[in-house]
Amino acid sequence: MSDETSGVSEAEIAVHWGEESYFHPPASFSAQANLQDKNIRDRFSLDNFPQCFEEFADLLTWDRRWDKVLDTSDAPFFKWFVGGRLNASYNCIDRHLEKHSNKTAIHFVPEPEHEAIQHMTYRELWVRVNEFAALLRDFAGVKQGDRITIHMPMVPELPIAMLACARLGAIHSVVFAGFSGKAAADRIVDSESKLLITMDSYYRSGALLDHKEKADIAYEDSKNQGHAVDKVLVFERYPGRYSSPTPIVEGRDIIVNDLLKDFRGQRVDPVSVKSEDPLFLMYTSGSTGRPKGAQHGTGGYLSYAAWTSKNVQDIHPEDVYWCMADIGWITGHSYIVYGPLALGASSIIYEGTPTYPDAGRPWRVAEELGVTIFHTSPTAIRALRKAGGGNPEKYNYHFKHMTTVGEPIEPDVWKWYYDVIGKKEAVIVDTWWQTETGGFLITTMPAIDPMKPGSAGPAMPGIHPVIYDEDGNEVPPGSNKAGNICIRNPWPGMFQTIWKDPDRFVSTYFAKYNKDPKSTDWRDWPYMAGDGAMQAADGYYRILGRIDDVINVAGHRLGTKELESAALTVPEVAESAVVAAKDDVKGIMPEIYVSLQPNVEPTEELRKRISDAIAKEIGPIAKPRAVWIVPDLPKTRSGKIMRRILAAISNDNNDVGDVTTLSNPETVDLIRKLHTK
Ligand code: PRX
Repeated sequence: MSDETSGVSEAEIAVHWGEESYFHPPASFSAQANLQDKNIRDRFSLDNFPQCFEEFADLLTWDRRWDKVLDTSDAPFFKWFVGGRLNASYNCIDRHLEKHSNKTAIHFVPEPEHEAIQHMTYRELWVRVNEFAALLRDFAGVKQGDRITIHMPMVPELPIAMLACARLGAIHSVVFAGFSGKAAADRIVDSESKLLITMDSYYRSGALLDHKEKADIAYEDSKNQGHAVDKVLVFERYPGRYSSPTPIVEGRDIIVNDLLKDFRGQRVDPVSVKSEDPLFLMYTSGSTGRPKGAQHGTGGYLSYAAWTSKNVQDIHPEDVYWCMADIGWITGHSYIVYGPLALGASSIIYEGTPTYPDAGRPWRVAEELGVTIFHTSPTAIRALRKAGGGNPEKYNYHFKHMTTVGEPIEPDVWKWYYDVIGKKEAVIVDTWWQTETGGFLITTMPAIDPMKPGSAGPAMPGIHPVIYDEDGNEVPPGSNKAGNICIRNPWPGMFQTIWKDPDRFVSTYFAKYNKDPKSTDWRDWPYMAGDGAMQAADGYYRILGRIDDVINVAGHRLGTKELESAALTVPEVAESAVVAAKDDVKGIMPEIYVSLQPNVEPTEELRKRISDAIAKEIGPIAKPRAVWIVPDLPKTRSGKIMRRILAAISNDNNDVGDVTTLSNPETVDLIRKLHTK
């Protein structure tokens, strides 16, 4: 795990709750499930690897079938379904038109409750994606392989923009709307994006937020960093009524809703791309201050999103499916947009906060739209519970299936989800995966595996985990001993590389347990996820949390170094250290410790400025729970900050460990006193 000096890991502060007993899937669920084959994991054994994954690709419509399932010649840069050609937009839209033309593809639920829910059919989605693709191609000059940054909230125009890019073979890079303009700028520069697509405003917790101001910051900041986008395309939250106080910049900003009138009725043939051509970039935090662009391919990724949506989410044509995640994260890409739409399902996009205007909101939506599958995070479940739960029993909805994702879920939160939200009728899957993995890796298969609260479950069919210790020895399976969880084999949803940084791809995810860097045998390249985990005797895995300098706040992944350098933009700050602290609602939250330049007084105003600087650099989700201004940070004699000690204090743990190697052991008591004040 992380060393004494460099940091403290989530896994080290994880609560190791006791073993729970099983809950069995309701018979009514199992009888209707898409996947009922109890021998599924035999079919996906390593003996059948990689051909077993053809079943995934067979869910898609290919322009040309692949010649080779898996090419390992440039390991660990694996290529899936090589020789195959397809288009993701065609697979998510056009191919459904024959049978499902008038079926709802997207239900859009605006946050203000008095605004009507909008239902967009597959045909309307097709029309709008075609028209916007024509605009991108003929007005903005977008070509295959161009990168496009999309910084948009939860509105239907977001998947329209993504699918229009995919139609042209352009690579989209969606940035979570809650991220700052500065964060968008960094991603524009790294991806060398040609365009920025944004929206004037959107609703969040009852307020119409000015989003366009972030586009101005993103444009200026990226230009100052040496890369300017050609244009800023601005969608209007209310078509025909520009709703932001931030003015339009003539010549640079284009109001999409006006310009689209010139493209009415236009159609764009989907560009047939190679299976391994990139579909999108999704930036995610790592151990350094610089976010990395996880690059996902087309054929492998889409096959994986489709198969897991069908068999883990159990989406049937008649289901109404609601994933409350944000499309700006990987969960939304795979399980709001690409997976459900590839299957021709009806997927809900909800603009706002789950608890707005009260905790009953999700249940009113579920009742009105007849939601059958519900997908959310432990943080949202804890927040709903804290807000009183919203009386699900008063609403006439029935979920057959519920998902939890993004963080470990405490058994008592799991049981509340099961009893109160699920009304004891729904099966639950606790799905463990990551931005990099494209789709679920560890989960129960809902009709065939019993559920165990607090444990994600056994692995997905075709996924073969192994837990290694620090020295590369295999931790005995089923021993309940913690170690680094890795996946032995590649799988189709796996990311292809880090954009423009193949060395970091190899060093971060593979180098530690690879014994022969020249090997082209996949067996030599276990994928290291960066999480601590343990496996119980029944084969179920429990995820303990990150083992690196990444913290998972409310299921959002943040690098501690990103927060620390944001704090250092305040000139009075001399040094900073971020630690993970347990939180009742958000699971984990950052606390930051700073020391000041000489002769600067600690004040409330300064504390606020530090917190605001972090929100400005990254986004409000990164705001620390506490800013502790301390006389000095505890350090080793060689000057390394001992974050482990700070983390112990932040987590009310009296055992700070050995402090004798510190150059300034007296600071520990001073900091502890500040905390107890
Ligand atoms: O630590 C794990 C945690 O979230 C991390 C991945 O974050 P991100 O790339 O943002 O993707 C989030 C959505 C998949 C993992 O390294 N994590 C994810 N799912 C679970 C989880 N921890 C425990 N249980 C889960 N089900």
